[in-house]
Amino acid sequence: MPPLIFETGPAKPAEADAVAAAVTALLRELRADPGHTIPGIGAAVADAIAGKDGSGVLVARDEQRRVVGVLGYTTQIALRLAAPYRLVQELWVDPGLRSRGVAAQLLAELDAACAADGIRRVEVCLPGPHVATFPRTLAFYERSGFRVLGPRVIKDLT
Ligand SMILES: CC(C)(COP(=O)(O)OP(=O)(O)OC[C@H]1O[C@@H](n2cnc3c(N)ncnc32)[C@H](O)[C@@H]1OP(=O)(O)O)[C@@H](O)C(=O)NCCC(=O)NCCS
Repeated sequence: MPPLIFETGPAKPAEADAVAAAVTALLRELRADPGHTIPGIGAAVADAIAGKDGSGVLVARDEQRRVVGVLGYTTQIALRLAAPYRLVQELWVDPGLRSRGVAAQLLAELDAACAADGIRRVEVCLPGPHVATFPRTLAFYERSGFRVLGPRVIKDLT
């Protein structure tokens, strides 16, 4: 396959719909539910693109300026670090363009943004081992310099 050129950088307000579509596609894939929707995602994406409360969105664009990859993140302070750290909330690449380095490029872009902002820790929660692609996802993050910390537990409050 010929090499493709991808450009990465902060999402622009005009790309909000494409970002929302990508995050919806990510959830549909992970949940194996093609009808899944995320009520209120439009406002959440607009806030993140605006950088509200330390959040942000990085995108990868192909040569036609189409959004083909999305990385959403938040920034929070942990007492245990006595410093802010970033959490990758979403990472998704167009299925037709996977294994061509797009996600690695987005993580490198995040590293550069963290360096510019004085942030020295990035964390990410992986889909559980019950997801068929878990070994490949884990291999991807380990290749990108992440180490396994331990299981994450969550509780939904009604
Ligand atoms: C995981 C993902 C972001 C990687 O994007 P990518 O641009 O293909 O990644 P890169 O090209 O930089 O690296 C390729 C590696 O990613 C992993 N990968 C590729 N396709 C994958 C898939 N469908 N599922 C899981 N991991 C995958 C593999 O480890 C791959 O290495 P390999 O080609 O040697 O097997 C992308 O596959 C994706 O969007 N998956 C579905 C959503 C998801 O699981 N996101 C991560 C949530 S934490």
